Amino acid sequence: MSMSIFESNQPRDGFPRPFPDTPSNVLEQFKMAGKVVVVTGSADGLGYAVCEAMAEAGGNVAMWYNSNDVAVQKAETLASTHGVKTRAYKIDVSDGEAVRKAIADVVHDFGKIDVFVANAGMAISKPILDTTLEEYRKQMAVNVDGVVLAAKYAGEVFKRQGTGNLIITSSMSAHIVNVPVDQPVYNGTKAFVTQFGKSLAREWREFARVNIVSPGFFDTKMGAGPESVHEAYRMAPLGRQGHVKEIKGLYLYLASEASSYMTGSDVLIDGGYVLP
Ligand SMILES: NC(=O)c1ccc[n+]([C@@H]2O[C@H](COP(=O)([O-])OP(=O)(O)OC[C@H]3O[C@@H](n4cnc5c(N)ncnc54)[C@H](OP(=O)(O)O)[C@@H]3O)[C@@H](O)[C@H]2O)c1
Repeated sequence: MSMSIFESNQPRDGFPRPFPDTPSNVLEQFKMAGKVVVVTGSADGLGYAVCEAMAEAGGNVAMWYNSNDVAVQKAETLASTHGVKTRAYKIDVSDGEAVRKAIADVVHDFGKIDVFVANAGMAISKPILDTTLEEYRKQMAVNVDGVVLAAKYAGEVFKRQGTGNLIITSSMSAHIVNVPVDQPVYNGTKAFVTQFGKSLAREWREFARVNIVSPGFFDTKMGAGPESVHEAYRMAPLGRQGHVKEIKGLYLYLASEASSYMTGSDVLIDGGYVLP
């Protein structure tokens, strides 16, 4: 940051950088043919919708799952339906050595990683006074460590390649305090990954873009539970939860060349929930 007009007027070698060599036709910009995308939490919910989006746009997808083995069958179906390469990997994203190895495995199997979607997450929605230390640590391990570990090891690949794209699934809970169910630890984990992602956008400015998606309530296993669902309808001007198909376009935009000038952004997609 410059402190005077004199300082700010000094040209820097290599700037401005050239515009990217990307298509001007917007539909061409959205094509993912030849790209390799890793998606965590891919067996179901938002993560599987992201996998569908990538495959439908011609991208190859490494589908990471934790316990839901349906990912294996879904990977095969996406490959045969869309003529792309897919593979399912069983990984606990909170296990550093497993993440390091799985990233090496994906590079070995696919040759590179263009986009890493750090989407896996979990919630134990309780007030802090009712939360055990074990429950606290579990949420931190999956939601915070899981994203940090993925970023650390995928970032090494991006730096080596000279190109990369990290997309983090955060939450509107990084922006607002949910009602009526108190869940301070979950909200805190999402605030961490949002600010972490913005920070990486600067750290990785020479070789990778980093953006954050902050969903409101979507109709998945982690969507609004019985205690919060009617408040979710009331709080969102659109009067409902999101359908997973409604998030596909945003992830495809961020993963593709259509968003080549976008880094460090945190995109809310919440039916207007955080407006009031
Ligand atoms: N739905 C919403 O309303 C909403 C709103 C805001 C943000 N989000 C965020 O969106 C992301 C996806 O959630 P979702 O709504 O699609 O719910 P979901 O279907 O329950 O997906 C969560 C995924 O996280 C994976 N996961 C959990 N623990 C893991 C671990 N230790 N290692 C690897 N993967 C693990 C699960 O894998 P397995 O099933 O294979 O175990 C599951 O696929 C989460 O980060 C969540 O916080 C959701």
